Amino acid sequence: MKVTIFGTGYVGLVTGTCLADMGHHVMCVDIDEQKITNLRNGVIPIYEPGLESLVKTNVANGQLCFTASAEEGVAHAEIQFIAVGTPPDEDGSADLKYVLAVARSIASHMQSHKVIVNKSTVPVGTADKVSALVSQVLAARSSTLGFDVVSNPEFLKEGAAVNDCMKPDRIVIGSQSAHAISVMKELYAPFNRNHDRMIVMDVRSSELTKYAANCMLATKISFMNEMANLAERLGADIEQVRLGIGSDPRIGYHFIYPGCGYGGSCFPKDVQALIQTADSIGFDSAILKAVETINERQKSVLVNRVQQHFGADLHGKTFALWGLSFKPNTDDMREAPARVVMEALWLAGAKVQAFDPEAMEETQRIYGQRADLVLCGTKEAALKDADALIICTEWKNFRAPDFDSLKQTLRHAVIFDGRNLYDPDVVRRYGFTYYAIGRGD
Ligand code: UGA
Repeated sequence: MKVTIFGTGYVGLVTGTCLADMGHHVMCVDIDEQKITNLRNGVIPIYEPGLESLVKTNVANGQLCFTASAEEGVAHAEIQFIAVGTPPDEDGSADLKYVLAVARSIASHMQSHKVIVNKSTVPVGTADKVSALVSQVLAARSSTLGFDVVSNPEFLKEGAAVNDCMKPDRIVIGSQSAHAISVMKELYAPFNRNHDRMIVMDVRSSELTKYAANCMLATKISFMNEMANLAERLGADIEQVRLGIGSDPRIGYHFIYPGCGYGGSCFPKDVQALIQTADSIGFDSAILKAVETINERQKSVLVNRVQQHFGADLHGKTFALWGLSFKPNTDDMREAPARVVMEALWLAGAKVQAFDPEAMEETQRIYGQRADLVLCGTKEAALKDADALIICTEWKNFRAPDFDSLKQTLRHAVIFDGRNLYDPDVVRRYGFTYYAIGRGD
């Protein structure tokens, strides 16, 4: 089948590439001409394992192409995906300007029936807004062309996006049009071979499914962080508690890792957007507000610990910081806990020597040159002359450090671990003061 995808960001590029790899003819459209030129040359704007080679292969074999021309994109296929960003507005609600601009563009250029698929994470009711806009533009053109608007949320995880896209847990399709449903079934048939993963529902339920999924996951994390804070104060070890509750299949082991807060481009934004949606219809979403408050608080836990140990004024102190991205296997620093930690350290007068396996360029881009930030080439270099080590991201490479040399290099044998990477007994045996999350001192 032929498919057009508007937006070559994370979602659009991964989805388009995977559809192409399954044999569809995919055209990706973006208004950023430089990005299009780069993509044609196999230069990928994001770090995502496996994506670059898949893009290159599918471009080379003619399954995948890129254009900056919306007109060309609209003409290419009946199926038109909208996969552009929905950044948060000032009040936290999702800003639909890019989604609606694409809808307008499709409506202005279309010369035949279109199935318009919302892949972006959009508030409940957006498909209706897209429909109304397309109808309005077509009416202004005196056109009687038909179209369907389908909701098809994505559930990709950064760092595992290609795999998630190729082997989805579920494919949610929100539509009540028999034609659109059959088109979507044919499109996703290659991903749906061994057992049926397709769940067809009405558009609004599909739109809410996306938010409900992310908000549920964020809730699990904030719940565990709350338990961690309690455990710490009650003399319990959250890691034991985690195993104890995860063994109940109704709870499960997934996504109950306490830490220094969740970040990324999805959870913080989606929780805020659903709070806004609830507020806008006069409903007080007490759970989601608590989830957000707890997460904000959690991002400060490490620095609070640092200040309890070294005092509120950190002038003259230097901290080694391992892990800048919001999670491993990505260079994405959006809403990353490390940013809150770093900025609070600076505010208190400290200097930071940071290392991350992938996010160094991104850190440089965000913070530029500053006297109180040194970006180090290795995790060992970050330790040199530092007063203590702070860990914000659980990269594999941080899991088994040489504790002896770590102790020799740091000025004080103190570790603040925001991801519970080590066995407290082992680290303490090496002579460290070890602060983790929910594990006592
Ligand atoms: C998330 C969802 O997991 C995907 O299913 C969804 O499709 C995606 O958002 C989206 O809406 O696009 P992602 O933001 O890539 O994916 O990252 P996650 O792997 O979910 O991690 C989010 C944050 O939660 C990270 O900061 C991670 O460190 C934190 N986390 C995760 C914990 O603190 N504890 C856990 O047990 C799990």
